[in-house]
Amino acid sequence: MPNSETNTRTRREFFANVVMGSGLLLGLGGLAARFAEFLYPVVPPQKLIKALAGKLSDIPKGGARMFNPLDAHVMIVDDGTQLLAFSAVCTHLGCLVHWDSQAERFVCPCHHGVYDTDGNVVSGPPPRPLERIKLAIEGDQIFVFLAVREEPT
Ligand code: FES
Repeated sequence: MPNSETNTRTRREFFANVVMGSGLLLGLGGLAARFAEFLYPVVPPQKLIKALAGKLSDIPKGGARMFNPLDAHVMIVDDGTQLLAFSAVCTHLGCLVHWDSQAERFVCPCHHGVYDTDGNVVSGPPPRPLERIKLAIEGDQIFVFLAVREEPT
């Protein structure tokens, strides 16, 4: 017949193990939730905002000009047949490109990345073309459609 001290110790050990096991499960659950958030981050949806960039007369014939609607850096170029809009942010490390009117190319001053009038990489380290931005012309005004993320409230 087991004595009462052994029974008490056994019960205490049992409850201690239950408490520790529960804590371990909660901790592992929290860790798994964090890991799942890391793997599948919640990204707020993007929406396009129409913003006035400038006037047609602001763009030199066969040239380009930077505009800053909604604090974005947008380069609009006249390629001879149409107007194209690009993000002026270099796809290498994020410097702002400028328009070289003699070479008729976008040039990044940081590491000499060069893009053509279609935003394609001609030379240098940029890994991708300049990001294309949709534009619309209404009368003599040029509007661009900027992608913005809605921040969760
Ligand atoms: S940041 Fe433009 S080439 Fe490096």
